[in-house]
Amino acid sequence: MKTFTIAVIAGDGVGTEVIPQAKRVLGRIAKKQDVTFAFQDFDWGAEHFFRWGRMMPAGAIDLLQPCDAILLGAVGHPDIPDHTTLNGLLLPIRRTFDQYANVRPAYLYPGVKSPLAKMRGGDIDLVVVRENTEGEYAPVGGFVYHHQPEEIAIQTSVFTRRGIERIVRFAFELAVKRNKKRRVASITKSNAQGYSMVLWDRTFQEVAAQFPDIETESLLVDAAAMNFVRRPESFDVVVGSNLFSDILSDLSAIIIGSMGLAASANLDPLRRFPSMFEPVHGSAPDIAGKGVVNPLATILSAAMMLEHLEMDVAAGALNAAVAAVLGEGKVRTSDLGGANSTEEMATAVLEKLG
Ligand code: NAI
Ligand code: MG
Repeated sequence: MKTFTIAVIAGDGVGTEVIPQAKRVLGRIAKKQDVTFAFQDFDWGAEHFFRWGRMMPAGAIDLLQPCDAILLGAVGHPDIPDHTTLNGLLLPIRRTFDQYANVRPAYLYPGVKSPLAKMRGGDIDLVVVRENTEGEYAPVGGFVYHHQPEEIAIQTSVFTRRGIERIVRFAFELAVKRNKKRRVASITKSNAQGYSMVLWDRTFQEVAAQFPDIETESLLVDAAAMNFVRRPESFDVVVGSNLFSDILSDLSAIIIGSMGLAASANLDPLRRFPSMFEPVHGSAPDIAGKGVVNPLATILSAAMMLEHLEMDVAAGALNAAVAAVLGEGKVRTSDLGGANSTEEMATAVLEKLG
């Protein structure tokens, strides 16, 4: 029987509520598929920070490295600055394991209401592909005259031809693999950022020339934000920088009805390192501890993990189970206008899995 070692970082807030539900679902999948998921739980995050002054221990990366995949809940605590939590855990993992493709699908499930009046189930079906290792999130910069009245902050974006080329190529290959609208939209702000984004546009055109069957469009990020609302049905694969795609993927999450449905994968497409799967949402301190958080974003992230582990049948079955629960609409957490608990939502998925 095949065994997959899965590193699990539940993290903070609602992360600790959604992860056990995803593990329950994976446990069922394991039984049905005759595989074993060996979960290795790591209690890293805010509590670790309060105790030890850091989000994860010094050798953390070495512990994750041999695992087949990483499943993460969320990190973030109201009493710790967000840049500390992010830079102390999430970003080092993404960078060290060169998880350069952050894949964030947004599908409007039948049975779920979009805040956009005209959108019906299936109308929105796009994937935001986010460059995940450089760009605006590069750890380059510093303070001068720190905490003094004349303080200066410098934050430098880093765009490399290699970094742009590989994420753009990933986006085109995804459009081919999805075989839906066969369209790639590239997002920049090259009117204002005349170096980095111009390099991006040029590289995009070079890669696009190698995929003549894929339709393309280039949009400035402000226009893209507008068009995500005005004509979301026109998008298929959308590729952009670390910052722009982060922002656009919150927008794509809410137009499909809830942050609680938005899954994501941080992929090392070359499979040299473990890839990481996590919901797009954060630790949601406003609802944490109440047992009401929607676990589906995490469960759908687990489905993306199954696909990455080449368990396509299991991934398909899990996606279908989630779609069936949402389509029936009997069990709904509060973000979807219902009153069911986190556990009840996951149980509904388990029932559909059979
Ligand atoms: P958030 O995503 O945690 O919450 C935004 C809003 O959406 C809240 O009203 C929340 O209740 C709701 N929401 C989110 N997920 C939900 C779910 N599954 N079911 C139902 N409702 C849901 O973003 P926010 O409030 O900006 O950040 C909270 C903390 O999380 C911060 O410390 C932030 O730094 C951290 N964060 C961590 C991320 C990560 O670990 N990848 C990503 C985003 C934020
Ligand atoms: Mg975000």
